[in-house]
Amino acid sequence: MPQVKEITVATLDAGEFIKEKAAEISQIVGDGIAINALSGGVDSSAVTMLGHKALGVRLKTYFIDNGIMREGEPQQIVSVFKKLGVNVEIIDAQDEFFASLKGITDPEEKREAITQTFYKKVFGNLVKKSGAKYLLQGTILTDIDETVAGIKRQHNVFEQLGIDPQETFGYKIIEPLVQLRKDGVRKVAQALGLPVSIYNRMPFPGPALSARLIGEATRERIALVRKATSILEEELVSVKAFQYMAILHNDRVTGMRDNKREFGQQIEIRCWDSIDARQAHPTQLPFSALEKLANRLVAEVPGVVSVTYNIAAKPPSTMEAV
Ligand code: XMP
Repeated sequence: MPQVKEITVATLDAGEFIKEKAAEISQIVGDGIAINALSGGVDSSAVTMLGHKALGVRLKTYFIDNGIMREGEPQQIVSVFKKLGVNVEIIDAQDEFFASLKGITDPEEKREAITQTFYKKVFGNLVKKSGAKYLLQGTILTDIDETVAGIKRQHNVFEQLGIDPQETFGYKIIEPLVQLRKDGVRKVAQALGLPVSIYNRMPFPGPALSARLIGEATRERIALVRKATSILEEELVSVKAFQYMAILHNDRVTGMRDNKREFGQQIEIRCWDSIDARQAHPTQLPFSALEKLANRLVAEVPGVVSVTYNIAAKPPSTMEAV
């Protein structure tokens, strides 16, 4: 991979950066069409705004509804962009993703199934149909570093997928954020006029809620962890933590409801203090907050009889459970 020159947040002039990158995108795409996928994360949101600035309606932006996002997430993100004058089309690909996840329980196999379905199937078809010759992608410097170091399999680094986009799909990739790290992207996103809900968005993994349950990601189990996630995000909204999450376990435990034995579901809560996700410590949440969460989870999520809080630090724990 060619060497990339880093722009640190201290030296970044967000206004200048935006002008330069928009000009670069316009120059490369000319009067052609570009395409991108928006997830609502800060990287893909910043790229969407940059591309829109450069190309207007000649940038086609899609939100792929993979069925494993949080409650109402596709519609919320689309409405944020609508307010900014950017049209985003939702593509319902739930069936494709659930079909690819069927029967898979291994965490890395789940990630692989999602990545392959996204690029080779759903997005691949969209590109072919749209006639776009350019793909705008929100790769950042950390993605490249982790790829080179072999730490993580990045869903957006094509080399790792064994895909040559030019050969496979007939398009070129433009990566306007590749000199930045997350703090720089947040600054650019703010300068692009995106709301705080986007530029300060809590990290959420690419494999979405399928990373928040142990075992097979069926529609039913995703619905359960989605509900738990909504409750958790509502209850902890004012907590200043790096990231918080609800995890659905695979093992069941005996509980009791209405004087009857119930072999029920277990939800694990995790809430992390961290600077850069490399190390993390469990947030010292007040016990009353945990109790309130537990009461709501057992009352509102069908079948849940046990709620736990993870108190082990990373390392050796990791932030996500799968
Ligand atoms: P871990 O679990 O590795 O998480 O301690 C560190 C940070 O990375 C996020 N994460 C992911 N993000 N795809 C992503 O896009 C993934 O497969 C993935 N796994 C973990 C996690 O949410 C945390 O912020």
